[in-house]
Amino acid sequence: MSSYIASDFHHYRQLYKQSIEDPETFWGDFASSEFTWHKPWDSVLDADLDKPDISWFSGATLNITENCIDRHLNDKGDQTAILFEPNSIEEQAQHISYRQLATEVNKTANMLLSLGVKKGDRVCIYMPMVPELAYAVLACARIGAVHSVVFAGFSSKSLADRINDASCNVVLTADGGFRGTKVTQLKSIVDDALTQCTSVNNVVVLQRTNSKVTMQEDRDVWWHEAIDGQSDVCPAEEMDAEDMLFILYTSGSTGKPKGMVHTCAGYMVYANFTFRNVFQYKPGDVYWCTADIGWITGHSYILYGPLSAGATTVMFEGIPSYPDTNRFWQVVEKHQVNIFYTAPTAIRSLALCDISLVNQSDLSSLKTLGTVGEPINLEAWDWYNLHIGKEQCPIVDTWWQTETGGIMISPLSGITKTIPTFATLPLPGIQPCLMNEDGNEVLEMEGEGRLCIRHAWPGMARTIYGDHQRFKDTYYTTFPGKYFTGDGAKRDKEGNYRITGRVDDVVIVSGHNLGTAEIENAINQHQSVVESAVVGYPHDIKGNAICAFVTLSPDAVVDQDDFRSELLDLVASMVGPISKPERIQICTGLPKTRSGKIMRRILRKIAAGETANFGDISTLLNPESVNEILQVAGQQSPTR
Ligand code: WTA
Repeated sequence: MSSYIASDFHHYRQLYKQSIEDPETFWGDFASSEFTWHKPWDSVLDADLDKPDISWFSGATLNITENCIDRHLNDKGDQTAILFEPNSIEEQAQHISYRQLATEVNKTANMLLSLGVKKGDRVCIYMPMVPELAYAVLACARIGAVHSVVFAGFSSKSLADRINDASCNVVLTADGGFRGTKVTQLKSIVDDALTQCTSVNNVVVLQRTNSKVTMQEDRDVWWHEAIDGQSDVCPAEEMDAEDMLFILYTSGSTGKPKGMVHTCAGYMVYANFTFRNVFQYKPGDVYWCTADIGWITGHSYILYGPLSAGATTVMFEGIPSYPDTNRFWQVVEKHQVNIFYTAPTAIRSLALCDISLVNQSDLSSLKTLGTVGEPINLEAWDWYNLHIGKEQCPIVDTWWQTETGGIMISPLSGITKTIPTFATLPLPGIQPCLMNEDGNEVLEMEGEGRLCIRHAWPGMARTIYGDHQRFKDTYYTTFPGKYFTGDGAKRDKEGNYRITGRVDDVVIVSGHNLGTAEIENAINQHQSVVESAVVGYPHDIKGNAICAFVTLSPDAVVDQDDFRSELLDLVASMVGPISKPERIQICTGLPKTRSGKIMRRILRKIAAGETANFGDISTLLNPESVNEILQVAGQQSPTR
């Protein structure tokens, strides 16, 4: 076992201390002892958090795929790297060994090269959760192309925005994707998107569902034809430590999604370090993260973290409720999963099902449980602990973000004492702090504030693609010299952190970060809408749900039911079905400050069912709007 992977709490404390006192020696020693490099670095860290300008391991060269694949071939060539569990229980699972992974990634990389993809080019990947998605991601990394994976639940408009933002040359997709009983028509969504894009020369289409698709001559190629005859040898491109590895979009508080940029060396080092420390992965363990590779959790903890550690990582194509709501537990038993990592929203919905369904499966292989994506409520934590972990498995409540690249605050399995609903302690190398609204740091141990991080860490995002000023404004300006997370947190006497949720205009619905501005933009497209305000409110299963308050133009004549479904369609097509509001409330005016700013704070309370305690509303431009909204709110039911 590496001396950088904590073996007990005392060791964790030691590592933490070392990492804070001398971060460069700490990360430098870890990086040189645990990875394959072509050239060593000139300096471990150069960071200026004001600019911000961050570089780790500069001067070094490497390729992340050599660390995720090639270096395991000698002793783990036959070990399963990716264990693919298909959507349908009729279809066989696939055990893809490290050796097979090498072959497939190299062939896919050669396919990309044959299409003219070069180092630095951006490749958009819009695919279902099938092994070829993993090959595609790693193939990009192999040849130094920058992957931009777009979650296959996004609409054509969102896909087009992301393709255009990064000027992608190639799109990798499939004819369709299986999700439970449904088939998503991915290729036709791509076709739709591409009517708004000019940068794309080629679309490669994987056959998965045998859906009928239209292939555009000179642009579209079938995956199986393009890969046919490609060599299974593809030398890895030698990458600079700070070359871009990938772009991944996340919602922001303005309408435009932010393309977070992660670079090769620091991201790799941090994904590996956190995977091994948090989950305490041991050789032979079967590890399953239920996320989609379209999100950062899939990037770091289905692919790069586990594969760089030589682990066996499960990749699941389907959904938790198909063919039945015990699918997760059946898969745990079937593949003897030891480490299981999922989202609170999944736990909450599965906890509603008959417990006898859970108990039909033998879950005794489980050693560690994890959660990610949003705060986990006590009931869900207790249920997970009791019914899945049988009170024998530590629960690692991992707090982190697309921007942080890897887990930042979390118990280490079996090492840190867990506390329900607390993400507990920072990982070695991470220096969280809490800030007051007036910009001062909360110095007492016990306190509450806005969560910031004080010092650079290897996995941090380097910029927003094409918009460094926005990167600075969003993350490094509110509290100068510190990274501002956008989350609120509490800290107890022992220094344990509990994340309380977003303090900005991002709402987390079923674990998906939704930017309220993006949804408002979609609603405002409707010809009868003058203005809208979108807020989140607590929801038993989803964590939060979306409520949209809309005002109509005076001459608008609308049938309420038609109007609502038109709005839902608009949101689904412009942003994606996951962003559809649960409730839509039509009102004659939105509460505004005298400077014309919509008071979302009040709307949030109304949406949450509060009927009083809105603070002083007399200073509003239109205080009467609050009563009017309250009256209507009392009479309405959800839209779906
Ligand atoms: C939230 C997901 C509480 C948080 C890895 C963060 C959490 C946002 C937790 C990032 C947790 C994530 N407890 N809240 N354990 N994990 N969050 O970018 O609000 O999709 O800012 O990255 O999810 O979401 P993202």
